[in-house]
Amino acid sequence: NKRNFTVKATGAINPSIRKEEAKVVDAVEVTQLQKPITAYCRCWKSETFPLCDGAHGKHNKEFGDNVGPLVLKKPKE
Ligand code: FES
Repeated sequence: NKRNFTVKATGAINPSIRKEEAKVVDAVEVTQLQKPITAYCRCWKSETFPLCDGAHGKHNKEFGDNVGPLVLKKPKE
């Protein structure tokens, strides 16, 4: 089952997000979420990064990949 996708090795993977910080780390307590569901991009193609905007669908189709977002859900009260 041959995989058919390309990974571009262009050096830094983060061209613009919070470059003033030595390392970008985010920790979220799920109970603190404002919305019931928040999806974070893991394909690096989102125009609303770090949030998923659905761009992974086009990426997956184009590269035969299977990436999707990290979805955080607020527990039901
Ligand atoms: Fe990147 Fe959805 S847009 S995971």
